[in-house]
Amino acid sequence: MSELAGRVALVTGASRGIGAGAARALAAAGARVIVTDMADTTALAAEIGGLARRQDVTDEAQWAETVAFAKAEAGGLDILVNNAGLFLMKPITETTLEDWRRLHAVNVEGVFLGCKHAIPLMAERAQAWAGGASIVNLSSVAGIAGSAGTVCYNSTKGAVRLMTKGLAMELATRRIRVNSVHPGVIDTAMGGEVVHGVATVWGAGDNEARAQVDQMHPLGHMGKVSDIANAIVYLASDKAAFMTGSEMIIDGGFTAH
Ligand SMILES: NC(=O)c1ccc[n+]([C@@H]2O[C@H](COP(=O)([O-])OP(=O)(O)OC[C@H]3O[C@@H](n4cnc5c(N)ncnc54)[C@H](O)[C@@H]3O)[C@@H](O)[C@H]2O)c1
Repeated sequence: MSELAGRVALVTGASRGIGAGAARALAAAGARVIVTDMADTTALAAEIGGLARRQDVTDEAQWAETVAFAKAEAGGLDILVNNAGLFLMKPITETTLEDWRRLHAVNVEGVFLGCKHAIPLMAERAQAWAGGASIVNLSSVAGIAGSAGTVCYNSTKGAVRLMTKGLAMELATRRIRVNSVHPGVIDTAMGGEVVHGVATVWGAGDNEARAQVDQMHPLGHMGKVSDIANAIVYLASDKAAFMTGSEMIIDGGFTAH
């Protein structure tokens, strides 16, 4: 249970959903977890014995301060989970330039800034762990396959998928592994946005939309937060020591057909 003992992890967008689940799972595996979000994370930090910090991932100055906080308050940084994200379901002709830039600012620039600022601190003691340090970026099945109404979101998650591979190449000799995670629809607030989009943009109607989303997955249902949190712990751990530049798909078969 203590496979991450001694490690410090930082999870963005950790106030709820996959981020909160990942923070709980990393803490259960023994890591000291810094939970950041624009929303309040103090209750979660108290629950898991971690540290809370307000952070907008699109703000570069806040990234510099957050990494300095990790060094000062937790002594370093070994695991970075770039999880904060926004979803959008709108036909491309109705998508505004503001929509496009807002989604790319959070989903793409947030990951870029997180890596840029965290890597120097992560490199300081990456040699200390058998599996090195680990960055886990949240992409999506939408980073692999397109669907009507999600062009903007597809663009952001496709970018995260390939940024991850480039980073893996750049950081391999510094013993920082970088992998992406590709969930199917997961039962969170964002999963609810997907159902709402299917009801309204695809015209499925409120009653049918949830069933339609469940049936997108050959296993017949949406995923749970724990399905993704467990994968994040694995990628962060020494068990994944030979994994870098990989895309871990956890989607109930969504992309297999
Ligand atoms: N839920 C799904 O179906 C699903 C599927 C595939 C991928 N993902 C990805 O997983 C990640 C988490 O998804 P979720 O379902 O938990 O979403 P969610 O909407 O439930 O939670 C997202 C969190 O990100 C935070 N956030 C948003 N903008 C931020 C910013 N600028 N700075 C800091 N925090 C910010 C929010 O406050 C929130 O706590 C996202 O990157 C999402 O794209 C989700």
